[in-house]
Amino acid sequence: MTGALAGRTALVTGGSRGIGRAIALALAREGASVAICHHGDERAAETLADLQALSSKSFAFEADVSREDDVVAMLAEVAARFRTLDIAVNNAGILREAPILETSAADFDRVVAVNLRGTFLVGREAARHMRERPAGVSPARIINLASDLAFLGREGMAAYSASKGGVVALTRSFATEFAPQILVNAIAPGPVDTDMTSPATMSPEALARDLDIPLARFAAPEEIAALALYLAGDGARFVTGQCYGINGGSAMP
Ligand SMILES: NC(=O)c1ccc[n+]([C@@H]2O[C@H](COP(=O)([O-])OP(=O)(O)OC[C@H]3O[C@@H](n4cnc5c(N)ncnc54)[C@H](O)[C@@H]3O)[C@@H](O)[C@H]2O)c1
Repeated sequence: MTGALAGRTALVTGGSRGIGRAIALALAREGASVAICHHGDERAAETLADLQALSSKSFAFEADVSREDDVVAMLAEVAARFRTLDIAVNNAGILREAPILETSAADFDRVVAVNLRGTFLVGREAARHMRERPAGVSPARIINLASDLAFLGREGMAAYSASKGGVVALTRSFATEFAPQILVNAIAPGPVDTDMTSPATMSPEALARDLDIPLARFAAPEEIAALALYLAGDGARFVTGQCYGINGGSAMP
């Protein structure tokens, strides 16, 4: 296999659909072997077939990233199959839109558990496998999916925004603690056309607000994957601890 990432290995959490699927396929097209995890998503089989057509070593794992035992088992499987791990993408995430006064403690905890605790657990276990790298090898990468809502106040999104603000903070700590062997960066997308932004998940008001941005459209998942590909590649060897907005102008910090 040729490509900018030929011979490298990657794990993409929540890789069965949406942004995670686009990132997994982008990495595989550049030659990486890619493991995806998902949480009971029937679309994982189709994504896995597409990945295996690009790299026969690719595989899928069912795991809840908020569960420490699931994450430890997943990274053990990745280590057993790939031997090394070069790229980990913390993409798994959930959104539960609700006004603050109607947000239960359980719902708040669940959003934070998947989005923030999951990013911590997968990042920690990935780092165990990434720290020992032979001299001269490109640094390993951890790429965390934050959100423009990490920086914006938004009705109905308190739990989600708080979890994503935590992801940005976690990114900086990981980048500091694991330099120079592991480069750790975050991507903060604005609205992207996925299940998360479907009418089943978000209110009409929230969807209308998402479109009220300078570029007045949703991104395609592939546009987010292009940035992930840059951060995973050799062109980004001097980039760590950063959070990149890709948001159609929704946030201009
Ligand atoms: N869609 C957007 O507008 C948008 C904007 C900014 C940030 N993001 C972030 O990008 C990431 C991907 O979002 P998406 O829109 O593709 O979402 P999606 O709902 O289409 O896909 C979510 C993926 O995460 C997996 N997942 C959910 N809970 C999980 C769990 N507990 N353990 C393991 N996997 C789990 C699902 O199986 C699925 O593969 C998320 O972190 C999201 O917060 C999305």
